[in-house]
Amino acid sequence: MGKLSKLTPIVSIFCIFFFSYHIIITVSSSTPPRYIAVEDITLDCGSETSGESKGMDGRYWSGDSQSKFFPKEEHNLKSVTSQTPEERTIKAPYTTARISYTQFTYVFPLTVGPKFVRLHFYPFSYSGFQKSEDNFTVKAGSFTLLRNFSASNHGDTMQKKIVKEFCIYVDEVNKKLNITFVPFSYTTSSNFYAFINGIEIVSMPEDLYYSPEGQTQSEKIPPYISESLPFYINYDMALQMVFRINVGGSLILPAEDTGFFREWSTDDINYFHGGVVLHNQSLMPNYSIIENYAAPDDVYRSARTDLYLDWELPVDSGFKYLVRLHFCELDLNISLISQRSFEIRIDGHSVEDDADVIRWTGNRDTPIYKDYVVLSKDEKVEDNNTSLPIGIYTSYDDYPNLKSVILNGVEVFKLINPEGTEHNLSIPSPMVNSTLPASSANDPKTNKTIFLAIGSLGCLVVLTSLSYMVQLMKFTCWRDPYRGKSQRAKALSLPEELCRHFSLNEIRTATNNFHKELIIGQGGFGNVYKGLLDEGTLTVAIKRLNPESQQGAREFKTEIRMLSQLRHVHLVSLIGYCIDEGEMILVYDYMRNGTLSARLYDTNNDPLTWKQRLEICLGTARGLHYLHTAMKDPIIHRDVKTTNILLDEKWVSKVSDFGLSKMGLNNTAVSTLVKGTWGYLDPDYARRQQLTDKSDVYSFGVVMFEVLCGRKALNTKLEHEQWHLANWARKCIEKGTIGQIIDPYLKGKIAPECFKVYVEVAESCVRDQGIQRPKMNDVMEKLEFAFELQQNADTAQEEINPSGVISYQDVLSFRIVEPVLESDSCIELTTRNSELTNPSLDSDGITSIV
Ligand SMILES: *[C@@H]1O[C@H](CO)[C@@H](O)[C@H](O)[C@H]1NC(C)=O
Ligand SMILES: *[C@@H]1O[C@H](CO)[C@@H](O)[C@H](O)[C@H]1NC(C)=O
Ligand SMILES: *[C@@H]1O[C@H](CO)[C@@H](O)[C@H](O)[C@H]1NC(C)=O
Ligand SMILES: *[C@@H]1O[C@H](CO)[C@@H](O)[C@H](O)[C@H]1NC(C)=O
Ligand SMILES: *[C@@H]1O[C@H](CO)[C@@H](O)[C@H](O)[C@H]1NC(C)=O
Ligand SMILES: *[C@@H]1O[C@H](CO)[C@@H](O)[C@H](O)[C@H]1NC(C)=O
Ligand SMILES: *[C@@H]1O[C@H](CO)[C@@H](O)[C@H](O)[C@H]1NC(C)=O
Ligand SMILES: *[C@@H]1O[C@H](CO)[C@@H](O)[C@H](O)[C@H]1NC(C)=O
Ligand SMILES: *[C@@H]1O[C@H](CO)[C@@H](O)[C@H](O)[C@H]1NC(C)=O
Ligand SMILES: *[C@@H]1O[C@H](CO)[C@@H](O)[C@H](O)[C@H]1NC(C)=O
Ligand SMILES: *[C@@H]1O[C@H](CO)[C@@H](O)[C@H](O)[C@H]1NC(C)=O
Ligand SMILES: *[C@@H]1O[C@H](CO)[C@@H](O)[C@H](O)[C@H]1NC(C)=O
Repeated sequence: MGKLSKLTPIVSIFCIFFFSYHIIITVSSSTPPRYIAVEDITLDCGSETSGESKGMDGRYWSGDSQSKFFPKEEHNLKSVTSQTPEERTIKAPYTTARISYTQFTYVFPLTVGPKFVRLHFYPFSYSGFQKSEDNFTVKAGSFTLLRNFSASNHGDTMQKKIVKEFCIYVDEVNKKLNITFVPFSYTTSSNFYAFINGIEIVSMPEDLYYSPEGQTQSEKIPPYISESLPFYINYDMALQMVFRINVGGSLILPAEDTGFFREWSTDDINYFHGGVVLHNQSLMPNYSIIENYAAPDDVYRSARTDLYLDWELPVDSGFKYLVRLHFCELDLNISLISQRSFEIRIDGHSVEDDADVIRWTGNRDTPIYKDYVVLSKDEKVEDNNTSLPIGIYTSYDDYPNLKSVILNGVEVFKLINPEGTEHNLSIPSPMVNSTLPASSANDPKTNKTIFLAIGSLGCLVVLTSLSYMVQLMKFTCWRDPYRGKSQRAKALSLPEELCRHFSLNEIRTATNNFHKELIIGQGGFGNVYKGLLDEGTLTVAIKRLNPESQQGAREFKTEIRMLSQLRHVHLVSLIGYCIDEGEMILVYDYMRNGTLSARLYDTNNDPLTWKQRLEICLGTARGLHYLHTAMKDPIIHRDVKTTNILLDEKWVSKVSDFGLSKMGLNNTAVSTLVKGTWGYLDPDYARRQQLTDKSDVYSFGVVMFEVLCGRKALNTKLEHEQWHLANWARKCIEKGTIGQIIDPYLKGKIAPECFKVYVEVAESCVRDQGIQRPKMNDVMEKLEFAFELQQNADTAQEEINPSGVISYQDVLSFRIVEPVLESDSCIELTTRNSELTNPSLDSDGITSIV
């Protein structure tokens, strides 16, 4: 097919080109686009040709002079060619420009619906115009798209072409779009001018980016992350594309898009460094979840993976942004739920706690995207580098080879409200009293910078200019999601009365600048210090998380969230926290008598009496029962162990360390990566990866045996069959030798009937399958009963022998016969003097006392 391209000479000192006939070659892509746009307007502004010129992008651009869209205000309007000898590669629409000292408007009659509007600028010393005086505003319909814009001063001077992309809805009433270019102070005799090289209008499906209220399926409405509310992207908003990246892949040109002519920039040198690129060119994405035109296949054929990815986007303060993240699992090794599970944080908010592409899509090779809306707040007006942090972090660290996140693509849009609506005013903007309009694309105060880093790699600062679609972005290292961001603390948005917020200075004072001698514990993610707050009146435990620990960051937040919602006498109380200068610090009530573990094993301490031990177990059981039942959904502690049971000065036990806690989904099992401590880890959970409240019951059973035997949950110094206390205790119970492995200090101190109930409960807790174990509630009741039995027996002993030391017969043999049914077991108990046993105290499951 051939077309005539006629060029009318243009008054210009530079050059006059005559285009002769030229053959139009069809765009190389053989497959038809996935989406055929109703409108696909490519207007070569300033061009006098009646035909079309093939552009840089392989598309054909038609001259505006002959078109029906031509601006009505013709006076003073100039067309200029911009081609220079050095830049013969420059093609439509950049060879010509429409330039004017006065305002001009293109009127596009259009069908109803959302449209892409792309404005192409090529800053140049156009004949008769001072290059630097191109300050102007661009309006479309009721939106101001660009305010006080100056293409010649826009970003990187190396970058010649500037493309601004917007999404605008054309409504029923107007059925047209006016695009107006207004030079700065054009009413005075100044020399400012406006210009445009090319305008593109491409229609799009109603729901590609918009999610209007009342017309959108609930799962397609993005959450407004700071308030956890759905955010409707209504048709009365315009979107400005600020960021569109094919993560881990190559540049995708407009002609290679799915029919919308979007460009997807590469991340190779400009955006992401480090990380591992996953790439599979032969992958055929299965669009069973999202529309096949959402993004080109190539976006989903490549991704980056690492322990975590995080970056900061430059944003204008006080605007809402739509963030769309594209995912597609393409690693052949990953096909199951929870093999790659991660957390997504945007602006300090955890927007996905347990992101899992396979869980979302059901399959590998199945693309999906997730949308979020965030308000970029500028809390410190003078802080010039406000940015929007987005990070993806691995959830758990148990399986190093599976420890990774994935990201295939990113799109970010600024949401623009129509002129004169109250929306703009309600937005907290530092520009509000300034003469500078807030939406200026070239506003120095909103000219923010991108900070980006991947994994643990170093810093990079790169300006980008790969093609004519450009964003000025700067990248540098940003590792710590909390570093120096006091607003991140507010993102946790906890009421002060529930949870105090301390400054780092207060914490430093309280701990004598983290003095070594004040270290009272060393936890998984850092040291615990003893500290004095409120002029020394309040003794606290201060847990300082290792700032390097990404893992810690996640658990830090879990713990704050959990503890600020939960209050119970048997749960440790959180007093407050501190997020400052990259530090993550938690402040708790100080537990004077330390951990249960230290009480049991530290030989400097007096051994705990049997009654103290019973009370400690009972308190712990109550605390756990509260956790499992306090909320609508059970909270599973996941790391019940003697080092996480703390004792106050009255020996009241308190469950601590909620870093791993997991909200259950009502009563069903939670699927997640196995996490916990060896020796306490529920074998059923480890096998099936299904976390239930019965996993805590198992761990609690292990604690009960530790308390009884004074022996660690896992002790590899012993003979192999004795390593694992729970397994060994069960064996001993089976063999009838449990009485021989109790803590020597307890010999003669435990009433046999109490012992029997205690061992029965402990044994039932550590049964292999969760379903065979009791609920925490049952455990609690049995322990209360055991305590009562001990109390009664002690009273009886005192009556018999008021002055003497209480001493019970040793339990010689104690046997639990394999349970016939799942619920109750048969216990045989032998004491040296069985008539001591009071038959009336028999509990369920005891069939014989020999
Ligand atoms: C025109 O734009 C340039 C670049 O942003 C700026 O430095 C200059 O002050 C502007 N002039 C006016 C009158 O606004
Ligand atoms: C668009 O421009 C035309 C012509 O200049 C004008 O008649 C019309 O009112 C404008 N419409 C809007 C919505 O601005
Ligand atoms: C690419 O993906 C396809 C489809 O999942 C798969 O059959 C093929 O093995 C993959 N190739 C590589 C190199 O991973
Ligand atoms: C795409 O995924 C859906 C849902 O998982 C499945 O039913 C369908 O068979 C898949 N199609 C192909 C071509 O694999
Ligand atoms: C899958 O696992 C095998 C063995 O662990 C490894 O050699 C291979 O590189 C992995 N493939 C990918 C795509 O990670
Ligand atoms: C922010 O930028 C302005 C002007 O560029 C400068 O005067 C001011 O000192 C900067 N503030 C900070 C905190 O860097
Ligand atoms: C951002 O602000 C910090 C201080 O708050 C400063 O150290 C850093 O250099 C700034 N970064 C940029 C890019 O201005
Ligand atoms: C903005 O201007 C109003 C009225 O002039 C004034 O009361 C207010 O304090 C100003 N705000 C800022 C942030 O300067
Ligand atoms: C336009 O922006 C420049 C700085 O880029 C500023 O100096 C000028 O005052 C602005 N003009 C208007 C009308 O806001
Ligand atoms: C925008 O920021 C870049 C990088 O910090 C800087 O080079 C440029 O001068 C800034 N533009 C304006 C108009 O302030
Ligand atoms: C533990 O608590 C008891 C009772 O209040 C107290 O006497 C003892 O000193 C405490 N032990 C430690 C190590 O603080
Ligand atoms: C748990 O939640 C799921 C989905 O939210 C629901 O289908 C199920 O009925 C709930 N189960 C209970 C016991 O509430």
